Amino acid sequence: MTPRPKNIVVTGANRGIGLELVKQLIFRYNPDNLFATYRDPENSKELLKLAEQNGNLHAVVLDVQNFEKYAEFVSKVEATTQGAGVNLLINNSGFFNKENNSSLSQVDKDDLLRHFAINTLAPIMLTKAFLPLLEKASLQEPSQPLGLGRAVVCQVSTTMGSIGDNTSGGAYGYRISKTALNQASKNMSFDLIPKGVLVIPLHPGWVRTDMGGSNALINTEESVSGILSVLENLNEDTSGHFMRFDGKEALW
Ligand SMILES: NC(=O)c1ccc[n+]([C@@H]2O[C@H](COP(=O)([O-])OP(=O)(O)OC[C@H]3O[C@@H](n4cnc5c(N)ncnc54)[C@H](OP(=O)(O)O)[C@@H]3O)[C@@H](O)[C@H]2O)c1
Repeated sequence: MTPRPKNIVVTGANRGIGLELVKQLIFRYNPDNLFATYRDPENSKELLKLAEQNGNLHAVVLDVQNFEKYAEFVSKVEATTQGAGVNLLINNSGFFNKENNSSLSQVDKDDLLRHFAINTLAPIMLTKAFLPLLEKASLQEPSQPLGLGRAVVCQVSTTMGSIGDNTSGGAYGYRISKTALNQASKNMSFDLIPKGVLVIPLHPGWVRTDMGGSNALINTEESVSGILSVLENLNEDTSGHFMRFDGKEALW
């Protein structure tokens, strides 16, 4: 039987891959609660409308660079889920400054730091903040195999963070911040498996979104349906592997 995550958190859920994750997660699992974060109501209208129509979808304001707000967010999730914990955390928010980032002479310290804050520090620190709720969810279903029916962290990464796949250089901030996220995700997979939590860094494909651009190879529907299949098939042996949306392994 396909495992059903009952309580889910997705960051950066107002557009692109995150918004499509919200749509497919609701359709596929009808979760008890889905917490979907956004920053600005003006560019989150579709998400906010969905939340009006679905009582189990909670749109929550969170700029992931506001680390001091994480405890408040976790408390809100804890109060709503009433002891059930969180089965799935998808750290999807991401930042890619395509301007002034392609050669060493253009690299800017503050720009590098911004990439690291959003793409590396935030997914690490938010996973840390949610760890008690992830552990709690996993403990609720001790007879189920580890995976989506227990607790999973999906770190939305990219093959642009792959060292083995880097054949062109450029995009300093984006590449190195995602490479660091991959290493952190591998570390977490060792750290969290004894707590019943699986972790994967996952490449969503080259996707037609604001970030991916109009020349990208796939749409958000294809990307997200692939991502959810990968998550459903995740197990103790594949935790910590760098996966692609199509179920293949990515090169580190
Ligand atoms: N599209 C691709 O081809 C592709 C390929 C590989 C990996 N990815 C990864 O997939 C993820 C989603 O990308 P996408 O293509 O959907 O990009 P997108 O359309 O540009 O959306 C980025 C999302 O991240 C959010 N975000 C950015 N900075 C944030 C912050 N400080 N706090 C909270 N949220 C923030 C954005 O919120 P706002 O609307 O408030 O800015 C938005 O929801 C990213 O992690 C990206 O690196 C994408």
